[in-house]
Amino acid sequence: MRYKAGLETKARTMTHPTAAPASPYGTLPPASPVATRRPLSLPRLAEMHARGEKITMLTAYDATFAAMADAAGVECLLVGDSLGMVCQGLPSTVAVSLETMCYHTESVARGLRRAQGTAWIVGDMPFGSYQESREQALKSAVALLQAGAHMVKLEGGGWTTETVRFLVERGIPVCAHLGLTPQTVHALGGYRVQGRGDEASALLRQQALALQDAGAAMLVLEMVPAALAASLTAELVHCATIGIGAGKGTAGQVLVLHDMLGINLGKMPKFVHNFLQGAPGVREAMEAYVQAVKVGSFPDDQQHAW
Ligand code: KIV
Repeated sequence: MRYKAGLETKARTMTHPTAAPASPYGTLPPASPVATRRPLSLPRLAEMHARGEKITMLTAYDATFAAMADAAGVECLLVGDSLGMVCQGLPSTVAVSLETMCYHTESVARGLRRAQGTAWIVGDMPFGSYQESREQALKSAVALLQAGAHMVKLEGGGWTTETVRFLVERGIPVCAHLGLTPQTVHALGGYRVQGRGDEASALLRQQALALQDAGAAMLVLEMVPAALAASLTAELVHCATIGIGAGKGTAGQVLVLHDMLGINLGKMPKFVHNFLQGAPGVREAMEAYVQAVKVGSFPDDQQHAW
């Protein structure tokens, strides 16, 4: 599969935002204000990890929410393939295409250029874009980076280790993803807690250490017991764990944006807190999330974890 919009993309993103008259629609300023924060980078994220400062991440799929999250001080924006459910109304992430991921990554990157522009963008490699071969994974990762991502994320352990190594050796920062891996929901038999019991936790630990060894700089741990996530976090000194439903002991946290704003007609997962409740607006809700993660008041292991 090839992402064909590359050239068109470059032409679009090279256009200076002030080239057009200020639009009455939307909420973004016409040009980038001067940044008051240093941009996030791999070394800065590693420093934060080393000194124990919690890393904040939210999903973002469009320019406005990305700019708002950036302005609220969210350090990492994950253009997650959860956009399949959130934006496209799909039943799972399985049918999300690389082209769609690139489209949303471009939008997020464009939004950041109109705000502080300091956030670190992680682009999700969709199902089918890296399973075939390491070369296929490289092409997909390049497409995401050219769309504006700084890092790519791929799901799974074991066979993915060599793919991660291949990408990292070629200068592509990689975030791995273990525990509940939504792209393999059919194989897992549902959205269930993973890594329970001696055998499953030993396998998860082995896979996590191998991914760190392959050069993954971040590791999303989704729906794994809090005690396991905390002990893995202590072991993985060169790879920052980012938890979602994995308790408070991880190096950072991520939530799906629409969930943490309460934009959800279905059943809210146990690990979500609605930060818009009690906040006057979206930006303040995002600021409350950043603050709660930084001080360790979110998540609460009793309420939001297993
Ligand atoms: O796609 C996504 O949003 C994710 C998060 C749930 C971690 O992978």
